[in-house]
Amino acid sequence: MSYDIIGVRAQFPALTAGIAHFDGPGGTQTPEPVIQAITDALAHPLSNRGREVAGERNADTIVIETRRAMADLLGADPSGIVFGRSATQFAYDFSRALAKTWEPGDEVVVTRLDHDSNIRPWIQAAEQVGATVRWADFDPATGELAVEDIRAVLSERTRLVAVTAASNLIGTRPPIAEISRAVHEAGALLYVDGVHYTAHSLVDVEQLGADFFTCSPYKFLGPHHGVLAARPELLETVRPDKLLPSADAVPERFELGTLPYEFLAGTRAAVDFLADLDTGATGTRRERLASAFAALHAHEETLRAQLDKGLSELARITVHSRAADRTPTLLLTFEDRGTTDAYRFLAERDVHATAGSFYALEASRRLGLGDTGGLRVGLAPYNDSADVDRLLEGLADFLRA
Ligand SMILES: Cc1ncc(COP(=O)(O)O)c(C=O)c1O
Repeated sequence: MSYDIIGVRAQFPALTAGIAHFDGPGGTQTPEPVIQAITDALAHPLSNRGREVAGERNADTIVIETRRAMADLLGADPSGIVFGRSATQFAYDFSRALAKTWEPGDEVVVTRLDHDSNIRPWIQAAEQVGATVRWADFDPATGELAVEDIRAVLSERTRLVAVTAASNLIGTRPPIAEISRAVHEAGALLYVDGVHYTAHSLVDVEQLGADFFTCSPYKFLGPHHGVLAARPELLETVRPDKLLPSADAVPERFELGTLPYEFLAGTRAAVDFLADLDTGATGTRRERLASAFAALHAHEETLRAQLDKGLSELARITVHSRAADRTPTLLLTFEDRGTTDAYRFLAERDVHATAGSFYALEASRRLGLGDTGGLRVGLAPYNDSADVDRLLEGLADFLRA
């Protein structure tokens, strides 16, 4: 297993601007092969999907190949890969579609750890049909969301549980496979927000037991759109609102309007780029992705250790990311200085770590950080040890200033 960080960085044109990016959880920078794939899609004939003329075939092939690529990335069935605008859009679309079968008195579970995109759509859909919303809480001291926290709010009326596979605010990775067993024992469906998780962990939707799993390629080096994975048989049972002439087959039934073919081409290239991250790996794309995520994990762990050590040497900083299982995403606050000031101070030094609650409003409030949140430091595949040094020096200067 080997990770060539110099070779990786050389493929990101944006890095030549000299910025140390710690804003990966908000959106990653884009490698050359992804940019090239988007350009190529647009530089060749491109029409609506079909098989008669080159433009139709190109669009069709992009869709088919990108479903295969995303299926490899997520351990899913290509026929259950749905493309859309964003993870937020999917939560709205699926909550509305699934709520058609809910009745007054049915229950939906949301968690305080989640991004608002996996909370509010479910609350609003529940309200519209008179279903009850039950909240699963996490422990603000540890940042952990345990299976017991979910079990505590399950009942025989639970229809669906919406939970994150990783918090975009503090990195916590709840035990989704255990949660899935509890949710399924209760006879409910599990809707998993994998947007932050997919950037750091090799997803296996079967092993996680997610009935629905969403992610957004722009968090893992791809373009700005969303992807949902589910078993095709389950998708067959869901009836979204749709246009009369549009395809009723799965998964097209859920893909409203014309797909962004050039972005899908970019997403396929992003998956291939990830699969090549372990330069020594061979085998199928799924096998290479497994090696790549192991190599990425080792790289991130080295940087995280450097970060943790550096932060522990700085006084007056609180690190709110504490769960035993978490991504390399740290939320920081300072004893006597504002996090927005830190964000601006670092930005002036070309170090980009954003301050906020990042739409994880409930989690931020539960942590006692109100709507302000903290300074978020997230690692991405192109970060190196020099980036971490620059961040630590910037924070040290900020705390001295
Ligand atoms: C954990 C998590 N869920 C959902 C979202 C929303 O994703 P999208 O922009 O695709 O709607 C984000 C975006 O930051 C996120 O971090």
